[in-house]
Parts: sequence; structure tokens; C-alpha cells
Amino acid sequence: KIIILDFGSQTTQLIGRRVRELDTFCEILPYNKFPQDTTGVIGVILSGSPYSVHDPEAFKVDLSQFVGKFPVLGICYGAQFIASQGGGKVEKTNTREYGRAHLTSFDAQNPLFRGFKENSQVWMSHGDTITAIPADCHVIASTADVKFAAYASDSKPLWAVQFHPEVFHTEQGKQLLQNFVVDICGSKQEWSAASFVETTVKELKEQLGNDRVILGLSGGVDSSVCATLLNRAIGSNLTCIFVDHGMLRKNEFQKVMDAYKGLGLNVIGVDASDKFFKDLEGVTDPEQKRKIIGRDFVEVFNAEAKKITDAKWLAQGTIYPDRIESLSITGMTIKSHHNVGGLPKEMKLQLCEPLQWLFKDEVRRVGYELKMPERLIKRHPFPGPGLAVRILGDITREKVRILQDADDIYIENMHNYVCEDGESLYDKVWQAGTVLLSTIRSVGVMGDERTYEHPVALRAVTSMDAMTADWAHLPYDFMAKVSNEIINKVKGVNRVCYDISSKPPSTIEWE
Ligand code: XMP
Repeated sequence: KIIILDFGSQTTQLIGRRVRELDTFCEILPYNKFPQDTTGVIGVILSGSPYSVHDPEAFKVDLSQFVGKFPVLGICYGAQFIASQGGGKVEKTNTREYGRAHLTSFDAQNPLFRGFKENSQVWMSHGDTITAIPADCHVIASTADVKFAAYASDSKPLWAVQFHPEVFHTEQGKQLLQNFVVDICGSKQEWSAASFVETTVKELKEQLGNDRVILGLSGGVDSSVCATLLNRAIGSNLTCIFVDHGMLRKNEFQKVMDAYKGLGLNVIGVDASDKFFKDLEGVTDPEQKRKIIGRDFVEVFNAEAKKITDAKWLAQGTIYPDRIESLSITGMTIKSHHNVGGLPKEMKLQLCEPLQWLFKDEVRRVGYELKMPERLIKRHPFPGPGLAVRILGDITREKVRILQDADDIYIENMHNYVCEDGESLYDKVWQAGTVLLSTIRSVGVMGDERTYEHPVALRAVTSMDAMTADWAHLPYDFMAKVSNEIINKVKGVNRVCYDISSKPPSTIEWE
């Protein structure tokens, strides 16, 4: 495996995903937690960082733990840190080096640049620059402004690049990472969805034997893939619980239940919507809504779980990004996320998390391998509290009905709109949804009648990981069709807006 040491860069997870795309296992660890036990380690990557090496609070690591022992690649801050520790020099630049640049020269003999073409575009993003490299190193690439764009050691397997090979804008970034991971570190590229399913099913059989396992389903990709995998391993010894809080999308509870039954899952569907609506009555504060839903969810789930008296395990669809220890540099809670979960303590269940090492795209690959329906695998993320955080102000069954109808028109049209490359608009965007602006009314005219009703806002974003997101540039003809259909068909809505805010500074959900 490759160890990626995280110095707090926004793109550290992206490095991990790129390595995984090379069918190579990797672990992302905080910069100061290089493992004592290095069995299976074939290489080390040092990430970027929001800090400058000169900041007093900058993250520092003892390089002797791995330099000289494994092939090492430093990226951005990683490259600057290695330079500063080895007797080189890092200085502030007057102009922040940010954005596109081209490699004006590179050492074609160096294995890191195998297959590189002249003038290859790279992406820079740093406030400092290396002005001298360590004595036992030599330059292997430069751009017009950056002399030491990349350097390598003469005596050790050590490479460093000041640009970001993991981002899309570095044209041959994938090639560079492949050169490092496969050619230099010697990865055998053995990970595949098929091999994952095979070994995981075998391990689950051994781990769980004849025990009963409970799992909370949410309709989302992770819990659904987790359930299907477990079903393959232990069949009817898996009992799934799917709670309907009443704020799912239109007909979703039924659709998802049908899909689960089609997969042969043993699912208990619980309609607890009365309880949720009652407890949410009159509540307008977003955080308060989340807390109530989170609490009620655990209560309902636990009451159901307790009926399964012989259960020994609780399975969860936790995936790797949920577990990567984040360096939380700002340490601020923007929204308290509620996810499916909650362990009935007195049941003393053990945790089983078979997807805990996978990134989302790998979970999807496993879903295809398990022959799950495409709609389930490609489903957009959906917040645990559901439409409750897409209705401004208090929540009533009537408002949920209005939002469900409007949203259904939006989303179905997205599925049906085929783009030039054959992909649907739904598959093109990361997440889409509708928000009911129920605290606002505006005047409209329908036929000869004046209306005074609510607007809805359509939201669609492109993103890699929901940490940052851009609003999606949806085609005008698509928006025109959706707007017409919503206003004509959904009673209670007389205006449709499109949200053109990116994250940051906005968030994806309105609440
Ligand atoms: P924001 O709105 O914070 O959303 O930009 C980022 C991603 O998280 C989802 N989200 C939630 N998911 N419980 C969840 O399970 C929540 O309370 C919650 N709030 C936001 C959101 O849909 C987006 O994908």
C-alpha cells in the first residue's frame, strides 16, 4: 500500500482517489501518524498544506521515518518541506503562484516523467517557492516562473513536485502518479471490484458465522451496497431496517423497498412519519430540526432493532472519507450532520463496516459488480433529514407534498434529458434537489386569476466530494420545461428560481 501523509490540504483525499484509480490500496494518515508497522508499505506521498513551512504552527514530520526506506513523493508543501529540511531554501514569492503553468523543460530520462510531452500543463497553488534545493538533489522540471517545479534526489528514492498532479488541471497528473505508484513503487495494481467482493464475502462469512446482523438502510448508495454485500455473505441472517420519516422524495419509500426486495434483501419498512411530523410541529430552526430528526430516528430504529433479540452485530455503510481523521484546521461546525446510525447500547452489538476502506467511486464499482440496479447505484446524495432541510420554516405534511411534487418533476426531467455525449443530465451533476421557499409568497397570474403562492428554488451542483461545489450550468431549454411543468402542475407554487451560488461561500443545502 501507499501511505499518504496529510498536511491539511484540500486535495489530500483526491490524491487518495487517484492512487485507488490505479487499483492500488492506499491509506491517508495525519502527517504525524506514520505507522510503526510498515508491513505492505511500498511508498509514501506527502500532501500539500494550507501552511507555509515558515509558519510557527506549520506541520512538521520526522522524514527519517521513511525517506531512504521507501520511495517518497512530496507534493507542493510536501516538496517545500523536504527542501527546507534538507538544506534547501523556501521563500515567500511576491506573486502567489496560482493556476495554470507549463513545463518548459523536464528530464525525460527520469522515471517520474516517463511518457510526458513537451509543455505539459500543470496546476500550481502555493504562496511560497523553493529557491534552493538540497545538495544531493537535482532539478527535473521547470516552468517559466518556477525553476524548481520538480526535483529528485541523487542518492535516495525521493521525488518532489511543487505542482499538484492529483488535480484535473494537471494534464498528465495521472501519468505522473502512475509512474510513481506503479513504476517506481512497484504496485501490482491488484485491486478490483471483483476481487474486493470475493475476499470481503469470504471474510464476512468467517467473521459473522451464523450470527444475526442488523443494518439500517437509508436508500443511499453506501448502505444499499453494504446490505447487498452482506446478503451475499450471510443471506437471511441479515435483517435490514428502513425507517420512513415522511420526508423522503415522492414515492421513494415504496420504490426503494421494491428495489431492495428485488435484490432479495430481508427488509423491515417502518412508517414512523406521524411521530416525526408531530415532533417537528412549529419548529423552524434548521439545527433544531436536525436534532429532533436525529433523536427520533435513533429512537425508532432502536425500538425496531430490539425486537430482533438474537442480533449480535450492527452493520453500517461507513465509507473511507467518513473515517479519515481530519486535521480540522478551522474546527467549526457549520451543520451538524445526522446519519443513519445509533447503537442500542443495552444490545451490546458489535460493529461491522465492510466498506470502511472504500471511496465513493469504489463503492459504486462494487455495486455494479453485485449487479445492483443502476438507479440505486447512481443515486445522488440525499441528506439524512431529507426534505425537512429543504423547506424553509416549519414543516407540515402539505408543504412536504408540494415539495415532493415539484422535486419529482425536476428530477424525472433530469433523468430524461440526454446530453450530447449520451449521459443523462442527472448523471452529469453531483447532486440536485428542490427547495420550498415556504416563508416567502409572491404574486402571479394564472388564467384570469391572481395567485399568491410560494416560490421553489432548483439547486444542482457539480462537485468531487461535497466539500466544495459549483452550481451546474443547466441547459436553458431544460430549465424552461421544468419551470413550466412545475408551475402548471403543482398547486401551491407559482414561481421557479435557479440557485446560482457555489460552495463556499454558500452550502449545498439551504438549511
Ligand atoms: P452542505 O449543505 O453542508 O452539504 O454543503 C454537503 C453534503 O451533505 C449533505 N447534507 C447532509 N447529509 N445529514 C446528512 O446525512 C445532514 O444533516 C446533511 N446536511 C447536508 C448534503 O445533501 C450534501 O450532499
